[in-house]
Amino acid sequence: MTLISDLLKTRFDELHAHAKAAIHRHQQLDMADELKLLSQSITSNDSRDSYGRGGIISDFEQQLSQLFSTQSCLFLPTGTLAQCAALKCYSQLTGRSYVGLHPTSHLLLHEHRAIEQLWGLNVAEMGTYNQVLTIDDFGKLDPATTAAIIIETPMREIGGQLPSWSDLTTIKAWCKEHGIKLHLDGARIWQTTEFYQRPLAEIASLFDSIYVSFYKDLGGISGAALLGSDKLIDQARVWARRAGGNPITLYPEVIAARAGLNKYLSAMPQFVDYTRQLCDALRCAPLSIVPANPQVAMFHLHFDMSAQDLAARIVSYAQHTGIIVLPLPRSGSKQTCVCEISIGDRAVVHQPNYWAEHIQACLAQ
Ligand SMILES: Cc1ncc(COP(=O)(O)O)c(C=O)c1O
Repeated sequence: MTLISDLLKTRFDELHAHAKAAIHRHQQLDMADELKLLSQSITSNDSRDSYGRGGIISDFEQQLSQLFSTQSCLFLPTGTLAQCAALKCYSQLTGRSYVGLHPTSHLLLHEHRAIEQLWGLNVAEMGTYNQVLTIDDFGKLDPATTAAIIIETPMREIGGQLPSWSDLTTIKAWCKEHGIKLHLDGARIWQTTEFYQRPLAEIASLFDSIYVSFYKDLGGISGAALLGSDKLIDQARVWARRAGGNPITLYPEVIAARAGLNKYLSAMPQFVDYTRQLCDALRCAPLSIVPANPQVAMFHLHFDMSAQDLAARIVSYAQHTGIIVLPLPRSGSKQTCVCEISIGDRAVVHQPNYWAEHIQACLAQ
């Protein structure tokens, strides 16, 4: 279904590129400036990797292994590859073909079901669309055929909600009891230390493996990492090669990922705190916030109007003020739509009230 006309999307992109303020994510430099800045972060110790071995990629993998306290790490071009490769390894290891996925999993919604079509595994859907997974959702799984389960935290499709720590520990124990591997879709894991009040390594310790992303919260160009045991990473390396995910070098992606980690990881608590203040400022606007009390530095806004209607207002407001008050809606029905907001360095240069007032003014047009 086309939610928004191509014309409006193009106009939005043009306005976004030259906006004086925008609420979503980090400042995005133009390509030349971005590469110039990244080149300044290269040190004399850095060298190219060769097919993912040595040089800057090995140094960065080691840095990540230390951060998450895992045995090993593999930098890959995409999370789509990282997670499917991990699941394939677990299937081979356990001799079981099913993977347990929440209905909002990226593997189901955004990967054309590669896990089945390309990797030959089976999916057992578990849990309810709008709710985080709890141990009660595990009853329907058949432990005898389930190789692994993916838990995403925070859960992007439901506004960044997170399973509780006590549910995670119960789930871990259940998986251990049944010989099922527990994998973390940690695309946005960087935001979660505030909620769990635990360092990344302690969160990671609940899982057999983790995937993390570098181009969302960390503002990199692209790229992902898979973290886990030496054995898993050795096998995933082979699967990545088979799948065409082992180019001669990934050094530009690694440079950007490393710069993003250095720049944004320590700012995450500030972004989370700002998100809470912003949502408090938004309470009287004609919209609903999901979750009502955001738990990380992202949330969804639900509107009682079509995506096309809201997009037209956002574009018109940007035309008059130079301010992008909302990203374009990413889902919706005929009469409702949803915008996803991730707080980064663009929003926080203004007081939360600045955004609340401009959003209200945009909606009132
Ligand atoms: C939750 C989640 N998992 C996995 C992915 C896949 O990452 P990639 O785009 O690097 O394949 C994404 C990307 O948006 C994501 O949001």
